[in-house]
Amino acid sequence: MRSLFLILITSHVGLGVMWNPKTQAAPYPDAVGSPNSDSALLRRRPALDSLVPVSDTHQLVWSEKWPASNVRFGQVSAVSVDKHGQVVVFHRGSHVWNAETFDIEDNYLRKEDGPVDEDTVVVLDPNTGSIIKSWGKGIFYMPHGLTIDSEDNLWVTDVALHQIFKFPSLSSLTKESKTPLMVKGVRFQHGKDDSHFCKPSAVAVMKNGDFFVSDGYCNSRILKYDKEGNLLLVWGRSSFTGTYGIRPGPYQFNVPHALTLAEDLNLVCVADRENGRVLCFNAQNGTYTFEISSDEIGPRLFSVAYSPAKGLFYIVNGPFDESQQVKGFVVDVNTRKILSTFQTGSSQLSDPHDVAVSPDGESVFVVQLDPHRAWKFVSKGSDKESLSSSLPNQSTSSVTSSSTLALSSTPTVKTAIEASNSSLPVGLNLMVNNSIAKAMSAPMVAVISLMVVLLCVTGSGIIWCMRLRRQGRPPVLEFDLSEPGYERNSLMHDDEE
Ligand SMILES: *[C@@H]1O[C@H](CO)[C@@H](O)[C@H](O)[C@H]1NC(C)=O
Ligand SMILES: *[C@@H]1O[C@H](CO)[C@@H](O)[C@H](O)[C@H]1NC(C)=O
Ligand SMILES: *[C@@H]1O[C@H](CO)[C@@H](O)[C@H](O)[C@H]1NC(C)=O
Ligand SMILES: *[C@@H]1O[C@H](CO)[C@@H](O)[C@H](O)[C@H]1NC(C)=O
Repeated sequence: MRSLFLILITSHVGLGVMWNPKTQAAPYPDAVGSPNSDSALLRRRPALDSLVPVSDTHQLVWSEKWPASNVRFGQVSAVSVDKHGQVVVFHRGSHVWNAETFDIEDNYLRKEDGPVDEDTVVVLDPNTGSIIKSWGKGIFYMPHGLTIDSEDNLWVTDVALHQIFKFPSLSSLTKESKTPLMVKGVRFQHGKDDSHFCKPSAVAVMKNGDFFVSDGYCNSRILKYDKEGNLLLVWGRSSFTGTYGIRPGPYQFNVPHALTLAEDLNLVCVADRENGRVLCFNAQNGTYTFEISSDEIGPRLFSVAYSPAKGLFYIVNGPFDESQQVKGFVVDVNTRKILSTFQTGSSQLSDPHDVAVSPDGESVFVVQLDPHRAWKFVSKGSDKESLSSSLPNQSTSSVTSSSTLALSSTPTVKTAIEASNSSLPVGLNLMVNNSIAKAMSAPMVAVISLMVVLLCVTGSGIIWCMRLRRQGRPPVLEFDLSEPGYERNSLMHDDEE
């Protein structure tokens, strides 16, 4: 009995250490200009994969048979999934962005070639990967960003035209329809004022119709508009510091390349491409909130997509040198730790340009410029862990945190959260709120509690063994990414007790 007790205690401490509850207590500790966040970023950090407990629910598996074998693209620059789950890609057809495309002052040099003469927007069946519809011939010169908003409107950016466009839903567009609902920016004219963009890279649209533009390759700023297109906010400036070791500030970009919204957390997040990081800002007022970066992702980060259903970010990095592995990363929104990575089995993603996630969070799509490719990944074992998830007693921080991780991927709990749809508190609180417990029936609670205990016993066995073998403390603590508030010493102390 005593040993069982010991094992239980150990497992709690063990899980607590591995999932580091301290980091979760305060979802957004990085203050603007916090010295801690800067120094934390300067430390070199080894790869996280081997150290972070990886659960199957966060693993993505490449879908080999997607898209259909007869589907061909040019450089594929963007992908989005609409609310029905259909996959929409934006590609450049016969146009290619290379050294002859722009002059040094960002003027497009190939106007006389005319617009792309193939359909640039292609709708794919999410399951079979066959083409449902294509559209967008004779309009765009150099496709870049694409997103479908919650009302099915199609938004695209063209870096040659220096414009962004809103079109009505693809289902209503005929081959002949070329009239946008809204255009921002001036055709072929770049600039940096309220009416000009310079190679704008992406658009993100909130449920209320307000939208963000990342602008872009030359302007290094984010703009927010209301749904009529009136400018509300502008922030960001360039960060071409060029000095290794000097981290750019939180409002500096080196190619803001893609956008994703986490509306449940009131965030808009920017893939700050050449700074190798994701920066998240308050979606109401543009205040910096936190950053995601790691040595494993490296110095280039091309795109990010957020799944509210899973509470996860999906990130693709980019080629840098031989030591840099190009792949996809799954990152927890609360801890901002890498939970798993994904890659194909063959014809590997080597130059990915954009990533998107389906509304249910079960499928992730990645597109690439060269070689021209689109891939689908599906999450593995989505139901397996549902029982381990609930019922944390909030007084036991280790159990709370372990269940939090499982919660974010559990259908049962999702439903519970949806059921209590009052204006939910931001971030972690949402996951561990007692209302979840309330929403579950008593027998369920009993079963789940049992499962938690079982899980702990099993977990503790493994941790116990690892510990005996290593004779030291687990190194996990060393590699927390971005949590200045995280108190290593006090945790160690607990651990050694
Ligand atoms: C932006 O909004 C957040 C949350 O509402 C608030 O904490 C913050 O102080 C605001 N920042 C500014 C600059 O108004
Ligand atoms: C859960 O925590 C509360 C205090 O927050 C405590 O009163 C209660 O006894 C705990 N329940 C269990 C099962 O440990
Ligand atoms: C859930 O949201 C809907 C619409 O947003 C609202 O009408 C309803 O009252 C909410 N339910 C609860 C339990 O808050
Ligand atoms: C849990 O949710 C209720 C409303 O559903 C809210 O009043 C309470 O503050 C929440 N608790 C936490 C810890 O977020």
